[in-house]
Amino acid sequence: MDTQPVSNWTWWKHGVIYHIYPLSFKDSNDDGYGDIPGITGKLDYLSDLGIDAIWLSPIFKSPMVDWGYDVSDYRAIDPIFGSMKDFKRLLDESHKRGIRVIIDMIMNHTSDQHPWFVDSRSTIHHPKRDWYIWREAQKGKKPNNWKSVFGGSAWQFDERTGQYYLHTFLKEQPDLNWRNKQVKKAFMRHFKFWLDMGVDGFRLDAVNMIVKDKKFRNNPGLLVSLFQNKKWHTRNQPKSYKILRQLRELLDTYHERVSVGEIYTLPPGDSEMAGSYLDEGNNAIHMAFDFSLLFRQWNARKYHDAIVHWYNNIPPEGWPCNVLSNHDLGRSVKHFGSHKRNNRKARILAMLLLTLKGTPFIYYGEEIGMENAYIHRNEIRDKLGKKFWPIYQGRDKARTPMQWTGDTNAGFTSEKPWLPINRNFHTLNVEAENRDEGSLYNFYRKLIALRKQYAALQQGKWEALIKGENGVLAYAREIEKQRLIVLLNFTPSPKSISIESYNINKVLLSTHRPENAVVDVSDVKLFAYEASLLKELEFME
Ligand code: NOJ
Repeated sequence: MDTQPVSNWTWWKHGVIYHIYPLSFKDSNDDGYGDIPGITGKLDYLSDLGIDAIWLSPIFKSPMVDWGYDVSDYRAIDPIFGSMKDFKRLLDESHKRGIRVIIDMIMNHTSDQHPWFVDSRSTIHHPKRDWYIWREAQKGKKPNNWKSVFGGSAWQFDERTGQYYLHTFLKEQPDLNWRNKQVKKAFMRHFKFWLDMGVDGFRLDAVNMIVKDKKFRNNPGLLVSLFQNKKWHTRNQPKSYKILRQLRELLDTYHERVSVGEIYTLPPGDSEMAGSYLDEGNNAIHMAFDFSLLFRQWNARKYHDAIVHWYNNIPPEGWPCNVLSNHDLGRSVKHFGSHKRNNRKARILAMLLLTLKGTPFIYYGEEIGMENAYIHRNEIRDKLGKKFWPIYQGRDKARTPMQWTGDTNAGFTSEKPWLPINRNFHTLNVEAENRDEGSLYNFYRKLIALRKQYAALQQGKWEALIKGENGVLAYAREIEKQRLIVLLNFTPSPKSISIESYNINKVLLSTHRPENAVVDVSDVKLFAYEASLLKELEFME
């Protein structure tokens, strides 16, 4: 990657995006569920943190079987979140503060309560029948071996018409048939509706799954699919790319709108797959999530290798984005041991996320170090948790309410919250961290500000200097005359390192060293769990 400025430099390349799970951010009407006016009321907090855009998990009308990822009306706001007027106000107030708004669009499936599906399942002859994927039994059995991502067969028998319909996720989320042109047309109109209203972009749910094999061939067994992702007949079909190019054409008729795709796949091969959607020359989507950082063990070399692998899979004109946690896969500080240690590791991760090349996505609460919560069996709200408990407790642990204060219900609601608040909220909350200059929250704020200040952090070339040896990851970000170095010690012991060919540096931000301290990286001893961002002195302006 180059040391020259990036072409087509635009907000979503240099911005920091903050992912909100609306049910859990802030409850404004005391029904226990977070809502849109709640988010609007917290825009000043977000603005103060320094983020550039918010991505909202779905807010459309929904029976909430999958908490909004089962949509029954793509042009209406679910009353649990408020009204369309509330949404327009959020959009307006965000824009006033220079914050863009990205919404979640679910193209693979609808709710089974969506009028399209109600019509589709009514009779075999209904014009909407072909909008979904219906098949006859094969010799008295399910149409093929396709599995639902959420367990079991992906086929559900429907008594009324004696056929099976496909559902890649829950049975209440029937898959749309994107080979039907009407479906595409209807969706393009939905996109247009929101674009005209002024939303700044879309996170595209499970977007590599929208088209399935025309011949309905069986998927290969688990081993083959684990190592040869491309063999799946339910993912990454050529037609998905074609549809996304058409969507891109539509987005490009508006000013600076963005698309970011969730690419469902299995490791290894996740970076390859995500990268394959980023070929700018081919007018693909703008960004795609690669979840490989999220699945890393706590090991500097593994992080290094994952980063390099990800960058190597980005086409020349493509742009990376980076993410450490989300509402499905858990919080980044999971499994890291005691709270105290989590906090140190959280800083290393924060520095990594905000100094890597690519747009950072912060998951709400990550900036204060929110942890996965233990949810008692009776309080589980995620269908997956209910279905698979105790083997898998579901996704609720990373969806608990935002911890605003140490008061009742963490300042999230005055009623019973829809999910329990993590018990650590008395000490771990925004109010407390805001006050404490040395908190993780303030570390995030400073990092975001530095990312804004230094072009090298936004568009500079990324080069590994220490590739995880001895538990240390070090890299440079460089553009024109600006050279920054990041030093991350992943271990609980001090480490001596030596980076030749770099001159004397000054500290921009560090977990252990005062700002502006001078560091000679040709011979320096890193503190346990040190995370430092340095700037080469010779190139100082
Ligand atoms: C991915 C979403 O992130 C997840 O929460 C949802 O359950 C599935 N897609 C189905 O929409």
